[in-house]
Amino acid sequence: SASKRFEDAINQTDHQVLEETRVEFLGAKSGKLKEAQKGLGKVAKEDKPAAGKRFNEVKTRLEELFQSAADVITGGGKKGKVEALDVTLPGIRPRLGHVHPITQTIDELKDIMGRLGFSAVEGPEIEDDWHNFEALNIPLEHPARDPLDNFYLNIAAASHGGGNQLLRSQTSTVQIRVMEDNEPPIRIVSLGRVYRPDEIDATHYAMFHQIEGLLVDTNVTMADLKYVLRLFASSYLGGDVEIRFRPSFFPFTEPSVEVDMRWQDTWLEFGGAGMVDPNVLKAVGYDPEKVTGFAFGLGVERLCMRRHGINDIRYLYDSNTKFLAQF
Ligand code: PHE
Repeated sequence: SASKRFEDAINQTDHQVLEETRVEFLGAKSGKLKEAQKGLGKVAKEDKPAAGKRFNEVKTRLEELFQSAADVITGGGKKGKVEALDVTLPGIRPRLGHVHPITQTIDELKDIMGRLGFSAVEGPEIEDDWHNFEALNIPLEHPARDPLDNFYLNIAAASHGGGNQLLRSQTSTVQIRVMEDNEPPIRIVSLGRVYRPDEIDATHYAMFHQIEGLLVDTNVTMADLKYVLRLFASSYLGGDVEIRFRPSFFPFTEPSVEVDMRWQDTWLEFGGAGMVDPNVLKAVGYDPEKVTGFAFGLGVERLCMRRHGINDIRYLYDSNTKFLAQF
């Protein structure tokens, strides 16, 4: 009888026979169950729901029995495998994310400057003519405004007469924003992204970060600037750093200098600095007869690369987790 054959098949250990029996009962085309299902059509209407329910119960039960019989033959199936887990094997270490080295550097620089009394502020990356150029004493015809050296956007600024908008090329923009909104004394740093369409190589990238510092007060001098930068450099790179100023020019500082740092016997350029130009103080409504200030802008990538011995800026931005996981 069918039930005897079913019982035999379920209890036996040959996979082939089990499978044949499974097809005989549960086969999709001509299994016994399929035939029974056809019979459902002939059941009286009022009995149909109950018959259908019973049919499904039988089908589910048969499938379970075949599955557990198959599990016995294959050594326990899924359940068996879980039970065979060897808890003494070493685990698989989950991959943890890292704080990006530039973010780590930014946090540390903020911290160092914070201890020197400079509070961290932020400014927008999309800027207008006024904050990126005009108020910084960079007139309309100045080559720094060249479209080839800036990422201009195709939209006009709402403020200051609807001039151009661009991705800021320097964090000096934040000097203007802070001085417009606050009265002296001012003592801030701003760390963030700047954008320049430079050709990309080991030391240049179209986006990089600057740390901008600004101090405005009565009787601020160049000596204060040098003192702060030296403390800053030795805090970040270590005690043996020397600072060198070379005469330079920026429209928004007078006098202006290039800031070099000597570290392990080489002089490296880290950015620019100087005394805030009287025209800049006037542009934000300060009285240059009453207050003076210094400002500096250094490359964050350079500091980070120097500190960690990274010799190509592109490593920082091509998302290679093998590189990033070292920090
Ligand atoms: N903004 C200048 C640059 O990007 C650096 C700088 C900042 C120079 C502040 C002087 C004062 O090159």
